[in-house]
Order: sequence, then structure tokens, then C-alpha cells
Amino acid sequence: MAAVGALWGGGYDRGIVTAVTARVPAKVNLQLSVGPPGADGYHDLVTVFHALALFDEVTVTSADTDSVVVTGEGARSVPLGPDNLAARAVAALLDAVGPGVRDAPGLAIEIRKRIPVAAGLAGGSADAAGALVACNELWGAGLSHQELSEVAARVGSDVGFALLGGTAVGLGRGDRVTPALAAGTYHWVLAFADGQLPTPAVYAACDRLRARAAGPGSAGKPASGGRADTAEPPQLDTALMAALRSGDPAGLGPLLSNDLQPAAVSLLPRLRQTLAAGREFGALGGIVSGSGPTCAFLARDGAHARDLAVALAGAGVCRTVASVTGPAPGATVISVPADGRPGGLPGGSEAGRPVGRP
Ligand code: C5P
Repeated sequence: MAAVGALWGGGYDRGIVTAVTARVPAKVNLQLSVGPPGADGYHDLVTVFHALALFDEVTVTSADTDSVVVTGEGARSVPLGPDNLAARAVAALLDAVGPGVRDAPGLAIEIRKRIPVAAGLAGGSADAAGALVACNELWGAGLSHQELSEVAARVGSDVGFALLGGTAVGLGRGDRVTPALAAGTYHWVLAFADGQLPTPAVYAACDRLRARAAGPGSAGKPASGGRADTAEPPQLDTALMAALRSGDPAGLGPLLSNDLQPAAVSLLPRLRQTLAAGREFGALGGIVSGSGPTCAFLARDGAHARDLAVALAGAGVCRTVASVTGPAPGATVISVPADGRPGGLPGGSEAGRPVGRP
């Protein structure tokens, strides 16, 4: 990233753009295969990410002091200090390009949440990705998608995918992301749960369950030991990739898989009822999303998704439901002020424009 500092400022009048808004998607993992944990505690993954048309919005504004404001779904449980993932992303970006890129002493970050917090939908990672593309634009930093991805990987495992969007294979911690071929639009019903599940707790529960399954010698060992050989090395599901290429939801539904699901269900047993209800109401497939507790159900089409959503909402097996489509685009700048930079965005606003791509 050493060369990045030289990139900022080219062709931009940084004095004029004072606020930028980015829109960022939630995700579901169509496959989440978890290998043994490495020495750093992270697990080796093979995953297929799929971005959903359920978006947070992140606005960054040049200001005298730094601040974070969060409104909307679950806002009260989002940290507002330097622990906020969007603030951490901004700090990582400043580390990469140097503090001279700032055009004011401070930055106001405003996050409007529609993605529930700690729900297995990578909402925090989405906010981090939104802050990265918005600041890249605000400060005219000029980082390419590849350079932003390198910053993203330092912030969290899912941030790189939130930048990219679409459908993609994730390896390593999930941070090595490659776009996947996927045809068509899929219709999903998300069942939001009452509780939250912290991701590290779900990985730890997964390790405990595997240690127990590996035999009496492993049972009861601390989460940090004795589990490396309890998980098979993960492999990409080629049948799932073929179903995605064919764009056939009936083919995809039965292939959805999530190694973290038993762990999530062990921590929140009522998810069993939610998953069973989805199956009973005719979902083509249903899984816990990521580390949970949101459950994602695949429908045949939009009409089926509406019926499924109504049935699940009426069954009392979740807090609320949302009907969404995928794949959705990754982090996208949706507005800059009307008097935006000269020669920049015509009319000062351009919906759906991906930022920082080469
Ligand atoms: O990287 P991120 O902050 O999103 O990860 C949150 C937590 O999820 C990590 O602290 C770790 O406990 C767990 N994790 C893991 N293996 C991965 C990704 C995340 O164990 N590949």
C-alpha cells in the first residue's frame, strides 16, 4: 500500500465535496464450510457469499470533530466509539493513505441501519465497506477496488465481500474473495430472530461441538485446544456452483449448507422451530445465515416469497420477516452534494455507481 499515498487528490477539488453517501448490502452464505482454527484463532473457510438487497446507508461528512451516529434497526446495540467497524475502516484507510488526505480536522459518520445487528448478515462489515468507499470519494483518495480490498481485509473478514457484492467465493478467513458465475435473481425470505449471536461465540461453540463429536478424549477440552483434526478441510461445493450457474432456485435450495448452523442452533434452540416452519411452508431450502441467528429461506419466485413471508410472520417463529432478492451490488456511492466536484458526477448524484474499481 506504500504507493497509495501518491494517488490521492488527482483531479479532485477536495474543498467542494463535503458529504458522500454509500449504500451497502447484507449477505447470506450459500455455502459456509469451516475448517479447523489456525494458530491465530481464525478458521479456514470455504464459503459462497451472496449479497442481498437489504441495505444500510453510510454518510460521511467533513466536520470539526470525529463522530458516529447510528439510526434505524438495532441502532442501540452498535458501538459509537472507535470500536465501531465503520470508524475502524476509516482509521485503516487513513493508515493506508496518510492523514494528509483529510480535508477537515474531523469526520462525521452517519449510519442508517436496515440490516439487523449481530444477525449473521454482516451488517457491521457492510458499514465498514460503506465508510471505505464513501471516504475514498469524499477525500478523492483514488484507491482502486484492489487497494480498498486490501484495507478491507484488515478491518474484518467479510468487509472485502461487502465491497464486491454479487455472488463470490471466499477463501482463507473469508477475506480472499473471487466473483462467481451466477445466473438470474433469487427470492429470499429472511426471518429475523429476537436475540443476537456474537460471531466469536458461534465459532467457539462449533469447535466445542466438533471436539465432543470427535470422542470422549476430546470432550470438555478448552475451546483453544484439541480441535484442529476434528474438522475436514473444507471444499467448494461444485454442485452448488453448477446450480448457481444454471440460475435454478429448485436446484440450489437443497444444496445450501452452513457448518455453523448446529452451533447457532445449540446457542439459540428456538431456531430449530424457525427452520422447520420454513420447510413446512414450502421453502426450497433454508439455512441459518452465517453465524446467525437470522434464517434465510429460498423461494421459487417473488409471489412464493411473499406467501412464505406471510406464513412465517403468522407462525410466531421469529421477530419479523423481510422479503429480499439477491444478488445485489456491493458498496456503491449513491450521492454527493448537488454542487459536487467540477467535472465529477453530472448533476452531483449518480445512483448505483460502484466506486474504486480499476
Ligand atoms: O474478522 P471478523 O472481525 O469479521 O471476525 C469476527 C470473529 O469471527 C473473529 O474474531 C473470530 O472469532 C471469528 N472468525 C473465525 N474464523 C474466520 C472468520 C471469523 O474464527 N474465518
